[in-house]
Amino acid sequence: MPATLCPAKLNRFLAVLGRRADGFHDLELVTTVLEGVSGLTDTLDGETASELSLSITGPTGEGLLADESNLVLKAWRLLEEAAGRPLPAALRLEKRIPHGAGLGGGSSDAAGALRLGNALYKLGLGDEILLRMAARLGSDVPLFLLGGTVLGLGRGDRVFPLRTLPLEPILLVHPKLHVGTPSVYRALHYVGYPFPEALASVPEGTPPPWRNDLTGAALWVCPPLADVRDTLRDTGGEPLLCGSGSCWAARYTTGSSRDAAALALQEDRPDWSTWAV
Ligand code: C5P
Repeated sequence: MPATLCPAKLNRFLAVLGRRADGFHDLELVTTVLEGVSGLTDTLDGETASELSLSITGPTGEGLLADESNLVLKAWRLLEEAAGRPLPAALRLEKRIPHGAGLGGGSSDAAGALRLGNALYKLGLGDEILLRMAARLGSDVPLFLLGGTVLGLGRGDRVFPLRTLPLEPILLVHPKLHVGTPSVYRALHYVGYPFPEALASVPEGTPPPWRNDLTGAALWVCPPLADVRDTLRDTGGEPLLCGSGSCWAARYTTGSSRDAAALALQEDRPDWSTWAV
């Protein structure tokens, strides 16, 4: 069975509509799954075995726990629950997506595990049930089952496919900072909730605004993020925080200005990782 590809994602529009009684936040999201960016794609493969195990390798795999707290094994346990029997397998996860970066790496791995287990054990679980299982694993997991360009509502877990919106030339920058998602959502309370404003109805095929309502809260939690934003502005890019951070996505008017910015950053900030998208 070929390895399951688990790509990263980019939220090009993230509006926080308000805090809910269950502590989560109602969101309106437009997300692009970054298919085909090999430097930002995890891979998951495995085969049936006598017991369930997970090994983690890859450039960003260091320090990640391969125990029951890992979303891959959590996803597998949900498959076992649905199948009503153990599904022993030797799973191998190769990590390339940085952790705590707002690129959805763990969520994408979880979606990959649902697809891999469903295929490996020929469980025949349909899209509806897989989407429900994905939502139990995390707000961002369902969108990875759809792929492409996705509208997310509710916690972000109610997903609807959109017509593909091509991305402008984009440079993703990871400054090797780690930002915890729950702390950013908590910080909304201190920096103030954004004025609730639903997504203006956007004509078919027109991209929504380049906006992330978590930016102020993420800067409050992790002030050094401002240096990354300012540096990207100096290169002529228009920076947007990825999810709850710490990556930034800068968009450029042309591919050549994006590539020139990437070269300049590799020189000036060798400790930052960059990917052209
Ligand atoms: O759903 P997920 O486990 O990815 O969420 C991680 C954390 O992010 C939650 O525990 C919550 O603190 C916050 N969150 C939120 N509202 C959302 C999504 C996430 O408050 N819509």
